[in-house]
Amino acid sequence: MCSRRWCLDLKLLLPLLFLAISIQADHSVPEMFKLSGSNVTLQISESLPQDYKRLTWFYSHSQKIIEWEHNQPRTFGLQFRDRVQLIRQSGALHITNVQREDSSTYFMRVLKTDGKLQEWKITLKVLDPVPQPSITIVKAKKEHNTCYLNLSCVVPDQSVNYRWYDYSGLLPKELQSSRLEIIVRPENFSKFYICEVSNPVSSKYGTVCFTSLCIQAGSPGITWFATCLEVMVPILLGFHLTLNELI
Ligand SMILES: *[C@@H]1O[C@H](CO)[C@@H](O)[C@H](O)[C@H]1NC(C)=O
Ligand SMILES: *[C@@H]1O[C@H](CO)[C@@H](O)[C@H](O)[C@H]1NC(C)=O
Repeated sequence: MCSRRWCLDLKLLLPLLFLAISIQADHSVPEMFKLSGSNVTLQISESLPQDYKRLTWFYSHSQKIIEWEHNQPRTFGLQFRDRVQLIRQSGALHITNVQREDSSTYFMRVLKTDGKLQEWKITLKVLDPVPQPSITIVKAKKEHNTCYLNLSCVVPDQSVNYRWYDYSGLLPKELQSSRLEIIVRPENFSKFYICEVSNPVSSKYGTVCFTSLCIQAGSPGITWFATCLEVMVPILLGFHLTLNELI
């Protein structure tokens, strides 16, 4: 099929080619994140040419979604049937009830009256809400007056961002990962730790409470748990959350 040398060159070139394409994509294509189930309007930032013969929206390069020509819109395919609408003035594409499969780079192509084609791109990323995390105590080891604490924030979906909070607020950046590994002393003892998991469209929180250095508070309902929640409130208010969303 191909000479050995050519195959080798191609192998070397392909990653470079992909790199070049992705670098270009990162800089030039606007990106939108949306929660699955929501409605979205894809709209170019420039104004549309005054007069055009034909306007077409594509899902990826080749699949037509909707086309406006001879003063009529025409929709294509099953994926977007009954879910799309073209706003004639702006050329915006309105999609209702977006799903993860709708994630793609969309193309809007306009055939102008002078016969020239112009094209714009928008990338849409549809994400599900992040799952509720739970906090596991991997290790809590007390030695003299300090506690070595290793907490794990557990979610089924790994493509999330993690943030940890204690009584003083957001913990330093270098501690932010799915695991929280800290040394606690009496002067910075916190009655609670909050783990926030998020993606660009949603966040959820998990909590754990401590009665004293290295000693976890029992189940909800007991006095200590109430005290723990009480001191958590100022932090929670920062998230605009209610207690019900946490326990
Ligand atoms: C999306 O739009 C549809 C139709 O216009 C409407 O019925 C629905 O409530 C909207 N959904 C959301 C999440 O806004
Ligand atoms: C608690 O304070 C000690 C020093 O007093 C420090 O080394 C440690 O990192 C602090 N821990 C947290 C979680 O802030």
